[in-house]
Amino acid sequence: TDLSKIRNFSIVAHIDHGKSTLADRLIQETGTVEDRDMKEQLLDSMDIERERGITIKANTVRIDYKADDGETYVLNLIDTPGHVDFAYEVSRSMKAVEGSLLVVDSTQGVEAQTLANVYQAIEADHELVPVLNKIDLPASDCDRVAEQIEDVIGIDATGAIQVSAKTGQGIHDTLEAIVRELPAPTGNIDAPLKAMLVDSWYDAYLGVIVLVRIMDGTLKKGQRVKFMSNGTLHNVDRVGVFRPEMQMVDSLGPGEIGFLTASIKQVRDTRVGDTITNDRHGTEEALPGFKPAQPVVFCGLFPVDSAEFEDLRDAIDKLALNDASFSFEMETSAALGFGFRCGFLGLLHLEVIRDRIEREYNIELITTAPSVIYHVFMKDGEMIELHNPADMPDMSKVDHLEEPRIKATILVPDEYLGDVLKLCQDRRGIQLDLTYAGSRAMCVYDLPLNEVVFDFYDRLKSVTKGYASFDYQMEDYREDNLVKMSVLVNDEPVDALSMMVHRDRAEQRGRAMCEKLKTLIPRHMFKIPIQAAIGGKVIARETLSALRKDVTAKCYGGDATRKRKLLDKQKAGKKKMRQFGKVDIPQEAFISALKMD
Ligand code: GTP
Repeated sequence: TDLSKIRNFSIVAHIDHGKSTLADRLIQETGTVEDRDMKEQLLDSMDIERERGITIKANTVRIDYKADDGETYVLNLIDTPGHVDFAYEVSRSMKAVEGSLLVVDSTQGVEAQTLANVYQAIEADHELVPVLNKIDLPASDCDRVAEQIEDVIGIDATGAIQVSAKTGQGIHDTLEAIVRELPAPTGNIDAPLKAMLVDSWYDAYLGVIVLVRIMDGTLKKGQRVKFMSNGTLHNVDRVGVFRPEMQMVDSLGPGEIGFLTASIKQVRDTRVGDTITNDRHGTEEALPGFKPAQPVVFCGLFPVDSAEFEDLRDAIDKLALNDASFSFEMETSAALGFGFRCGFLGLLHLEVIRDRIEREYNIELITTAPSVIYHVFMKDGEMIELHNPADMPDMSKVDHLEEPRIKATILVPDEYLGDVLKLCQDRRGIQLDLTYAGSRAMCVYDLPLNEVVFDFYDRLKSVTKGYASFDYQMEDYREDNLVKMSVLVNDEPVDALSMMVHRDRAEQRGRAMCEKLKTLIPRHMFKIPIQAAIGGKVIARETLSALRKDVTAKCYGGDATRKRKLLDKQKAGKKKMRQFGKVDIPQEAFISALKMD
């Protein structure tokens, strides 16, 4: 394809501002997909994505568009995830394209992820086309939002395209703007092959599929290529493009985006950001490459039924094949038996993986409290990376601890600012900046990641009635007064409930935890003490009183069906419990106990 007739772009937006809907419309308007095959959110292919309405994996589509100038252009759209956990995917897909549509909901305005994504687009040298979406809604206010884009982001938004991805209004203008305002790619067809490995995933039929952007040269079926990061050689079996379903082509040239398969067995054998070239006389210079995504949140996953451990291993192995950012290792817990300690990019990532294991593999799980990685500096000078509070070494041997800190950006309407500041303060935040963008306050906070991974986002949404937006980036590790808090139920420590806390907040946390557990653990035939302790010292205590009567007692002489139902219900409840000594603890206690109100 003639380079000047190619436009490669992505769409950046805050979550729910309509990115996927707009992509669907662009695909439909250009007749890429027959109307009868059109499903909503075509690019969100996984069921879970469709159900939750979020985009997880970057997806790509090639669109042919006959423009008003009479020429036919090839538009390659790379769809990117909007959620903060997947920011790294956004940044890498951006390196593969020249421009972005900046979609802002004209009833809402600029939000935290709008900013975060725009900064990434600017860093990738993108040309930006502002698009104001949802103009069909009565609350739409394009002038105000355009002004806000100029104020906050500093780009000219006077010519912003007004669109309703729902009704299709403005879609034609958007396509024209893509052709007119975004630059064509550059590249040399006569140079040796130089392709960027943008993404890869596992397909049950074709093996690993590698998404590539060709910079120079040509990629052909049957060609022998080299992955420069590890020097491995592969024979290219197939070359193709997404429309959005796969379509095989003979070759891809400079500026084009498509895929290859080469009998690669594991996603792990491909490195995102790698440079692909000819096996002989290849390019000398590799592309800069991307930083691999590092898991920042860890938790334990244990089967409720310990007989399902092997099934869990199998499920985790399979999921990891397709998700290089998800890490795991075997873990044994005195309380929960065999399971896995898993690392995730963030809480949403954690939830997605957990849901998939439960749903697609039908394994009921106990998830332990999420934790970050602490750096434990021992008195003998050694530094240990602590992924699991249960492994915390004896405090007498520890010199000090460091925890990861983040820089959080929160945008919130004025009236909720007070609550947001209080929440950040409660979570040991340090205010770095507070400015205004229209009627919205933008606060920048330095926060410990461990105070955020758990329920910060839920709390933020609840105190602001959903009006705040939030984004963060990792900053550094810093020393603080951190201790391990253990929890004892009926005098037995439950290792899966132990957590790292700040010394000054330990009592408060301990008390809240014991109170919460008291409501979560059902009463037994005997009294159960619930305690929180630091080292050997008990800092909080509650007692769950004994159950006096048999639950079915009141049914005696009564209706037998009702009695059976009650017993069945108890049995079903039992299934989700684990026994600790003599006490049954319900599965949800491990997560719920840590949610602070
Ligand atoms: P993520 O994929 O999760 O990042 O979200 P998104 O930005 O792709 O948003 P999505 O396309 O899922 O749209 C969010 C919601 O807004 C959906 O319920 C859409 O139906 C709705 N929506 C999108 N565009 C419009 C529009 O132009 N008008 C109206 N009324 N609703 C829209």
